[in-house]
Amino acid sequence: MDGASHPVVDRQASIDRFRETRQRTTGMFDLLTEEAYYEQPIPLRHPVVFYEGHIPAFSVNTLIKRGLGRDGLDEDLERLFARGIDPEDQVSADGVARGSWPRRETVRQYATDADQAILDALAHAEIERDGHPVLHRGQAVFALIEHEELHQETLAYMWHRLPLSRKRRPADATVLIDGSVPEPRQVEIQAGRATLGAMPGEIPFGWDNEFPRLQVEVPAFAIDAHNVTNQQYLEFIEAGGYTNPTWWSEPDWAWRTGAEVEHPPFWFLGAREWFWRGMFEPIPLPAAWPVYVSHAEASAYSRWKGLRLPTEAEFHRAAFGTPNGGERAYPWGEAPPDATRGNFGFRHWEPVPVGSHPAGVSAWGVHDLMGNGWEWTSTVFEGFPGFRPMAAYPEYSADFFDGQHYVIKGASPVTATGLVRRSLRNWFRPRYPYVYAGFRCVGDTGW
Ligand code: AVJ
Ligand code: FE
Repeated sequence: MDGASHPVVDRQASIDRFRETRQRTTGMFDLLTEEAYYEQPIPLRHPVVFYEGHIPAFSVNTLIKRGLGRDGLDEDLERLFARGIDPEDQVSADGVARGSWPRRETVRQYATDADQAILDALAHAEIERDGHPVLHRGQAVFALIEHEELHQETLAYMWHRLPLSRKRRPADATVLIDGSVPEPRQVEIQAGRATLGAMPGEIPFGWDNEFPRLQVEVPAFAIDAHNVTNQQYLEFIEAGGYTNPTWWSEPDWAWRTGAEVEHPPFWFLGAREWFWRGMFEPIPLPAAWPVYVSHAEASAYSRWKGLRLPTEAEFHRAAFGTPNGGERAYPWGEAPPDATRGNFGFRHWEPVPVGSHPAGVSAWGVHDLMGNGWEWTSTVFEGFPGFRPMAAYPEYSADFFDGQHYVIKGASPVTATGLVRRSLRNWFRPRYPYVYAGFRCVGDTGW
């Protein structure tokens, strides 16, 4: 299996996925007005310009240089655009900030040249080589495409922070708000095994943190059938949730008060009513949408309810386990993901009402486990036993095994369909409030 004499990479399929991904990225930059280019929508991240250069530079660094052992296109730009930042706070962010960035023409020309180099390599170079650390099973090719897909999500949540005056609304942007809030209920999940990650050779590609697989015996528990909605979360706010330290851990409360956090980052208060900060317009707070909050806020809400966040293994049990003791590839079974299964794949810039994809429910009847927003877990991000950093990008995960990041699972509206798989793991700092992540609560059962 791992010795793979069958090629994993299909050249034409890679060229198609690469082109489609590049086009989507270009389309996302086209949503912005020129003045946004050197702005920094998120204080703890680089300005917009960085990402237009980072994506192609990463592809060149990974496939052309590390993989094929050839020269890059521009040493200076490939160093400048090599890596993003993930500082803890503003002081650390100031330490890594740069004064000046290249002109946009320079960045765009670099991206055009890089695309040519990558397309040429995908068509003609030896992009898959057994036993080669970076080219084994075509690792570098998958890595560069998925890296760009992951950053499309970065772009989207950065764009969400920009003022509306910096964005052009595309004609096809639709917002679905109608939907009743389902009566909150929990579903009991029997004790059983969860398989996290995958074995090498079992899937065409996975990031290093997905290997090797880890099997966990999970005691029975009960889990919310739906994500916590804006309406439910509003009850927490109105009950004084943000003014009572009881519900918050000490560092979370220090952040809550220090940064004056008083509501979810996607909400703002109008004259009298709450609004959702939409990508292209303010929207009266949609009651039936999942709330997007930080891990800190999700944890506080759960404690207020007398419940807690699920572990990564519990998420797997609810999503992929079955009452007869089996495990499936997706919540709905083995069929590949499509638009009927969940809100992912860039069909919407915003969430849709919870429970809108009945064809995506898990074997236990739990809704929306893949799509409509990532879901926070209580699991600190670390490697599974036997973890090895991947040669194509050794820092990808290992740099974040610091006890300061939590696993999120599932997918958001702007997670590419190619990333929708059981073993994919994502992670963020617990007080990073910008991502499309919500949560549901679990409780222990008496069984
Ligand atoms: C896995 C989404 C947390 O966005 O920081 C992109 C992905 N790593 N470039 C991030 C990533 C390097 C990463 N996340
Ligand atoms: Fe990156």
